[in-house]
Amino acid sequence: MPPPSALPSQPLPFLLHFMRRHAALFVPMALCETLHTLCAILGPYALAGLLRAAPLGTDTPALHRAALGFAVLAVAEIGLGRAAGALQLRLAPVQRQSALRALYAWLQGHSQRFLSSNFAGALAHRVGETALSVNQIMSAILFDLWPVVLTLTVSTALLLRTHPGLGAALGCWSVAFLTVSWWLAKSSQSFTLRAAATRAETTGVLVDSVSHLSSAQLFAQQSHERAVLGQALARELGAIRASNRYTERIRWSQAIAFALLKLGTLGYALHLWHTAQIGLPDVVLVLTLGMLILNEARNLGRRFLELFEYIGNLNNGLRTLLVPHDIVDAPDAQDWAVPAGALSFRAVGFAYQPGRPVFHNLNVEIAGGQRVGLVGFSGSGKSTFINLLLRQYDITDGAILIDGHDIRSFRQDHLHRQVGLIPQDPSLFHRSLGDNIRYGQLHASDAQVRAAAQRAHADGFIQHLREGYAALVGERGVKLSGGQRQRVAIARALLKDAPVLVLDEATSSLDSITERAIQETLNQGMRGKTVIVIAHRLSTVAHLDRLLVFDAGQIVQDGSHAELIAQAGLYQRLWRMQADGFLGDVAAAMD
Ligand SMILES: Nc1ncnc2c1ncn2[C@@H]1O[C@H](COP(=O)(O)OP(=O)(O)OP(=O)(O)O)[C@@H](O)[C@H]1O
Ligand SMILES: [Mg+2]
Repeated sequence: MPPPSALPSQPLPFLLHFMRRHAALFVPMALCETLHTLCAILGPYALAGLLRAAPLGTDTPALHRAALGFAVLAVAEIGLGRAAGALQLRLAPVQRQSALRALYAWLQGHSQRFLSSNFAGALAHRVGETALSVNQIMSAILFDLWPVVLTLTVSTALLLRTHPGLGAALGCWSVAFLTVSWWLAKSSQSFTLRAAATRAETTGVLVDSVSHLSSAQLFAQQSHERAVLGQALARELGAIRASNRYTERIRWSQAIAFALLKLGTLGYALHLWHTAQIGLPDVVLVLTLGMLILNEARNLGRRFLELFEYIGNLNNGLRTLLVPHDIVDAPDAQDWAVPAGALSFRAVGFAYQPGRPVFHNLNVEIAGGQRVGLVGFSGSGKSTFINLLLRQYDITDGAILIDGHDIRSFRQDHLHRQVGLIPQDPSLFHRSLGDNIRYGQLHASDAQVRAAAQRAHADGFIQHLREGYAALVGERGVKLSGGQRQRVAIARALLKDAPVLVLDEATSSLDSITERAIQETLNQGMRGKTVIVIAHRLSTVAHLDRLLVFDAGQIVQDGSHAELIAQAGLYQRLWRMQADGFLGDVAAAMD
């Protein structure tokens, strides 16, 4: 996969990026819309010309020319308007999708640290919103604001030619109107943002509550849930009312401005007519232009508000999504060959949060082909060890090498292909079982998928499902039992067939008999591969070549089961404690 190209992270450059990308549609659309607006403004002007060319009861060539001009403008106005509309219909979905694709590609490169500190749902929502806001902003500027600005400017210029006094009055009104509308919208922004935030919060509360409906039922707390929702709704209502009060203020100021325009220009024009300073055609010009302006500028305050909201959305989205990737391939990263799969951790230091180190000066060498078990208390750092090996997080000190190459000198994609991981809590795509297994190797045939499932002892239960390999597994795989999900994850990793295999509590949900059967498979299939197995159930790892005992981020013991059991240490204590509970397993593991 080529790395996603960097996207501009500021709103304006981001918009320009997508305008440029779709210039072939955007430029003609902007042109049509501009010409459409100009035709609309020139209409009244042509009408005045028509009246001037046709004193009552005459029929001259000038009248015909003027009439033709007026008709052409009227037709062109409609045609160009529709053309701009049609182009927008073509451009909008394409543009939204291309922004969505680009944002998603960027999101894919974010590290585990980023992903674990942001809600998946919120990120998906942001990607959609941000892509949509590109369309909304462009359409608000081009179809709402640009025509108003154009109409006011050109009308003022036309009137200045006819009558400088009227033109100057309209010019002043326009500047004042635009400024006040902009200022009101800007100052009400905090209210609309607050209203939007409370709406989002209500949705959050609702989603959380709906996804835990069954908990509410089991604890008989439905009325409590309704009360929680009620509080969120009350907050939302307060914010919406405050925002509405402001909107009402905007409407009033606009109504006053329009009344001033209507009465002022009309009165002034009539006065000029009355005193014979202008003729009737110019009165008609003033009145029709006035109506055109009122029509265009209607709801300008609200449109400004919407524009600010869209820009706010875009800004938020870009700030959340387009932060730089914190783990990137080195410029000279390579696809190093991994013939043996030897791993070494040299003086490794790491902390999830600064000042709270999980590892300090951790050293361990694992030979290629060795099968190693990691054991130790919960929270002692076993999964972290694997996260670092996969470069899910970058270490702060030391180096991790695979077959002598620092993992930071690998291309990340290539590194991830070298390590097959069966995670502690495998979560599956809401796709068919077959597709989930095939994820290990997308081009695998049905027969290969089935063979992998058989080796992972998953084929049996899959065959029992009515839809077999085509059965959907539910969100994150919830329709499967924990052990079934684990077997699908094992099948997927087997199909991937990477030189290093990691099992993080991969068989913890299986009954002892199935677990043993899968271990047999792994013992046969994993010959020559480096295997790391994390397990709390010591019988799962006792037969491996070597065990590393973790305690609070340190490897406190290192050796085979036989060696460690002979030492007075943590492993012996753990083994003794478990021996009672898993005696049967232990005996089985040792024979
Ligand atoms: N994403 C994270 N952010 C912050 N701290 C974390 C994160 N993941 C793990 N930790 C902390 O790092 C320490 C080591 O956790 P780790 O998951 O490696 O333990 P583990 O040995 O795998 O435990 P378990 O046996 O319960 O799976 C713990 O103190 C844990 O709270
Ligand atoms: Mg763990």
